[in-house]
Amino acid sequence: MSASDREERNGHDDQISVIQSNASAVRAVASAVEGTLGPKGLDTMLVDESGEVLITNDGVTILDKMAVKHPAARMLINIARSQQDEVGDGTTTATVLASAMVEEGLRKIEQGVPVAKVIAGIQEAARLAIEWMRAKSSPIETLDDPVLYQIARIAGREQEDIARLIMEGAHTVGAEKLVETSYRFADSVVAAPGSEHEVISGVLISKLPVADDMPSELDQARILVMDDAFAPEEVDDEALGTEIGFQRYLELKDAFVKDLDKLVQLGVNLVIVDRSLDALAEEFCRDRGIMVVHRVAKKEIKRVMEHTGARSVKRTGLAKPVEELSRYLGNAGKVVVNHRMKHVRILDGSGTPTATILVGAPTPELVGERERIARDAASSVQAAVRSGYIPGGGAIELAASIELEKQKSALRGMESFGMEVVSHAMRRPLTQMIQNAGFSPLEKVEQVKATQIETGNHAFGLDLDTGTPVDMLEVGVVDPVQVKIQAVQAAAEVSRAILRIHTIIRMKEEE
Ligand SMILES: Nc1ncnc2c1ncn2[C@@H]1O[C@H](COP(=O)(O)OP(=O)(O)OP(=O)(O)O)[C@@H](O)[C@H]1O
Ligand SMILES: [Mg+2]
Repeated sequence: MSASDREERNGHDDQISVIQSNASAVRAVASAVEGTLGPKGLDTMLVDESGEVLITNDGVTILDKMAVKHPAARMLINIARSQQDEVGDGTTTATVLASAMVEEGLRKIEQGVPVAKVIAGIQEAARLAIEWMRAKSSPIETLDDPVLYQIARIAGREQEDIARLIMEGAHTVGAEKLVETSYRFADSVVAAPGSEHEVISGVLISKLPVADDMPSELDQARILVMDDAFAPEEVDDEALGTEIGFQRYLELKDAFVKDLDKLVQLGVNLVIVDRSLDALAEEFCRDRGIMVVHRVAKKEIKRVMEHTGARSVKRTGLAKPVEELSRYLGNAGKVVVNHRMKHVRILDGSGTPTATILVGAPTPELVGERERIARDAASSVQAAVRSGYIPGGGAIELAASIELEKQKSALRGMESFGMEVVSHAMRRPLTQMIQNAGFSPLEKVEQVKATQIETGNHAFGLDLDTGTPVDMLEVGVVDPVQVKIQAVQAAAEVSRAILRIHTIIRMKEEE
């Protein structure tokens, strides 16, 4: 070996050792969640220093709470997060796929395939797999399509009550709304300890009115939303000490009292305030039977405005003439205070129709997990309405893997190694689900693969109770195509990014 050959060899080894270290960090992250994948996946218990405990089966929740320092591991966690943000489910699948791509990619690089070739191959193979899955998907025609209930049931961990609840919510919201790009159906899910399951055609404010003697029910509510404190305009403390400042304070207070009368003229009977309420305003409203809810979360205020058609005003806005102010008000058919559950329901608003899905949980510990399950189901239903569905249970991934093997020969030279990487990774979800169900993955994956090839049916997966191959569409195991596509895309992106890192330099601490 010549000196320059040796140098090149050493450089190559250094690069590989960086990739190896990144791959093992990625592996460690994936192994924290892979045991939860699929219907037989187990839960993970997270414990913090103070002994706080969280039990979950949700990939992104586990990753979010894990104490991770390694930068490559963080990249993987960010992928799970973006999967959650984009489609709301499939975070474990994305993580498992990504880790398998990194592992297999590393193997190819160790065998001497240039990194650039592996990376290019992964990109091309992921594109083909995605295209192929999309071509195999079926659309959801209407909300009454029975497949949609199966989508909710599968994403909702086979909890039938949650699946039914989510479908009721979907009908309340309507298909038109579900396909709107800016609408997130999962955001309408709220879990409440001790409550019954319920779909409300309206929005909730998780606060009680300011005073007990305010009305606890309103018909035909006229609603003022204040994105400010419900109080007179302020004079700063320094000015208040001067004669002029004090005069100004009295004037503002008088003006405020006059402005309050406008509420009565306009028939306002509900005021929703994002900050606090002063004594003057409180007394006025109590005397006149106006309900006031204050310190309401921004997110809830936004939903109230959408649903009732209200536009928010600042306190200075109260000075507007009555006719102008009236254009800022929202309307709702009914407002009901629920004292037991400590919230106010605003129903049948005259703005955008909406639904709030209340998920009951028997104990406070279960509230979080029930909410996560219901949100996964809601996200999946919405994704399926938008994009259609494919067979679940790892079947479509396996079928895509077989397809990639077939197409590999068509690829020129080294890029075919990237195809092998993705093809290998696409077998991982099924393999992992089989393993989590306690069967031998090697044997069962081969059996399912043989069945798919023999029958030419890409929907064959494994019945995880009996260990026999079954048609996933026939047994109602279905996933939204968007969730799967996003998972493959995210996995390919992060694995390429991680494999590309061949040097790590520690930056000096910022002053
Ligand atoms: N009864 C079932 N038989 C076979 N596969 C199933 C069954 N129920 C669910 N699955 C499959 O399990 C996979 C989803 O598993 P899981 O919900 O644990 O992970 P995820 O959706 O990838 O991530 P997360 O829900 O943690 O964000 C899907 O591929 C789905 O088709
Ligand atoms: Mg899931």
